[in-house]
Amino acid sequence: MADHGLSALRWAEPPDGPVLVLLDQTRLPVAEEELVVTDVPGLVTAVQTLVVRGAPLLGLAGAYGVALAAARGYDVEEAAQQLAGARPTAVNLAYGVRRAVEAYRRGGPAAALAEARALHREDAQASDRMAGHGRDLLGELLPGGGHQLLTHCNTGALVSGGAGTAFAVVRRVHEEGELRRLWVDETRPLLQGARLTAYEAARAGMPYAVLADAAAGSLFAAGEVDAVLVGADRIAADGAVANKVGTYPLAIMARHHEVPFLVVAPVSTIDLETPDGAAIPVEQRPSHEVTELRPGVPVTPVGAQAYNPAFDVTPPGLVTAIVTEVGVASPVDRGSLAALCSRTRTAMS
Ligand code: MRU
Repeated sequence: MADHGLSALRWAEPPDGPVLVLLDQTRLPVAEEELVVTDVPGLVTAVQTLVVRGAPLLGLAGAYGVALAAARGYDVEEAAQQLAGARPTAVNLAYGVRRAVEAYRRGGPAAALAEARALHREDAQASDRMAGHGRDLLGELLPGGGHQLLTHCNTGALVSGGAGTAFAVVRRVHEEGELRRLWVDETRPLLQGARLTAYEAARAGMPYAVLADAAAGSLFAAGEVDAVLVGADRIAADGAVANKVGTYPLAIMARHHEVPFLVVAPVSTIDLETPDGAAIPVEQRPSHEVTELRPGVPVTPVGAQAYNPAFDVTPPGLVTAIVTEVGVASPVDRGSLAALCSRTRTAMS
């Protein structure tokens, strides 16, 4: 497994008891600071303030959070409820919590920790496999190489036990010498693209440029985008994709300009119990994230209201393909997603 030199989350056992050590993503790229979490309320706050974020990493945080609660003697069932409800859209959070709780019920604290560690390893393996499938698909869709790829939000090693999801594909393309440029949407309002994806791209030595989200249209019009690659927080049974707000307009632009729009996500992000996009709960975030440039620096008149959904939902008809660790769904519909999900067990064994 490649070492990307980033550890977004790790378990540690200092003498005064187990802790979770989180790389504080609100401080990057200005400072590489770690936050040590010793209890569930602290972890819930870290999740809600985006110290730890991104779908697969939220799954790991949920699972390790249950292990932490168990190891420190908290009420595990109550802790699980608090953790699973900390952010509503990313289905991986509830998935990670559920796996660790079920393990705890079977085997106590040690089993919960072992399950969190297993999920961590699986996530790294899934990243590798998504990178391979995504690279192969790009090769088919864009023969000739020298790709200019556009991405939104942050989907790299900062959200994963491995190289991530969409960014893992970009990384693979770059390692094979086929990346001409990565266009990084800044990703308003919290700048996960400008702060985090640019940080990862720079560390990887990629040719990249950051753009204001509103500049993407003119890039497509100029023919400077060969494909769009994004992650997902939840994929409904019909193939609708919830991802960082601003993804849906990109999908519309990609369709208008006949550019492939690829969603890269592990099978654990596909939620067959959510029937369609309308049923996906979309997290609404506080106004100040829009009305202030950063805490205490307003950009709007005092008292301004804001509309601040964390995610939007892209209908399946706009998605060229969903790339997972077990293969690719294309066209994206109920049948292709159900088929992918049923392949999970075989492919990962
Ligand atoms: O609000 P965030 O930063 O947690 O949102 C993250 C995203 O939207 C990512 O694109 C998504 O989780 C996929 S990450 C692999």
